[in-house]
Amino acid sequence: MRAKAAPAPTVPAPQDVPRHVAIIMDGNGRWASRRKLPRIAGHKAGADAVRRTVRAAREMGIDCLTLYAFSSENWKRPEQEIADLTALLKHFIQNDLDEFHANNVRLRVIGDYRAFDASAVTMVEEALERTAANTGATLVIALNYGSQNELTRAAQAVARRVEAGELSADAITGETLAAELDTADLPPLDLLIRTSGEQRLSNFLLWQVAYAELYFTDLFWPDFDADALATACTAFAGRQRRYGGL
Ligand code: FPP
Repeated sequence: MRAKAAPAPTVPAPQDVPRHVAIIMDGNGRWASRRKLPRIAGHKAGADAVRRTVRAAREMGIDCLTLYAFSSENWKRPEQEIADLTALLKHFIQNDLDEFHANNVRLRVIGDYRAFDASAVTMVEEALERTAANTGATLVIALNYGSQNELTRAAQAVARRVEAGELSADAITGETLAAELDTADLPPLDLLIRTSGEQRLSNFLLWQVAYAELYFTDLFWPDFDADALATACTAFAGRQRRYGGL
């Protein structure tokens, strides 16, 4: 007898699709070690999951997808792993940018990508420039990103405006600060997903997450796919967002 196929998750109706989804892609290393493979194999499989997820997000009508690819704390990893992750990023830009560009996807980066090696910086800048006018969807890659650093830089920028006499301290609002964040031109965050069963924010989008829904899955990132994204979005659609009201 043939086993019954698991029912495909229902894709949320267009009005229930979150506009901005961010993902903490965690579990590449554990995925690899379960298979007795080196960590790089997990990151490679993670890059495949990135490709699948970007396509799925676009098909589902998600306007903006933000992926935490490299945190400002990831520099603490062994040199070889940093080199492997940088090579994967370059490979991703080289191989996948044409497809995203053809699909009208705009690439954005948050964090200070200029800390990467010169050829990676050039590739990122060319990709940003090439896709800047695209209007279909936005793929945001967090590179050398840390939320506390982003907030510190934003506070410094606001303080400089106060020092220059452009702004009084009393006139500073949440919007003043938000306008100085790396995410200033992005839609408000609706849904934050973290894979691998960990339930923490790891210095990711701490300001932006204020009214986002949080979704945790035990799947390791390399196992994440269109169905997993649909399941997360269906859970999101079932949440009641009250923004502090009743
Ligand atoms: C966390 O898993 C994952 C990362 C630090 C890197 C994420 C990178 C990719 C998914 C591939 C390249 C990215 C792009 C945009 C092409 P971990 O290694 O910390 O997992 P562990 O906690 O199981 O060790």
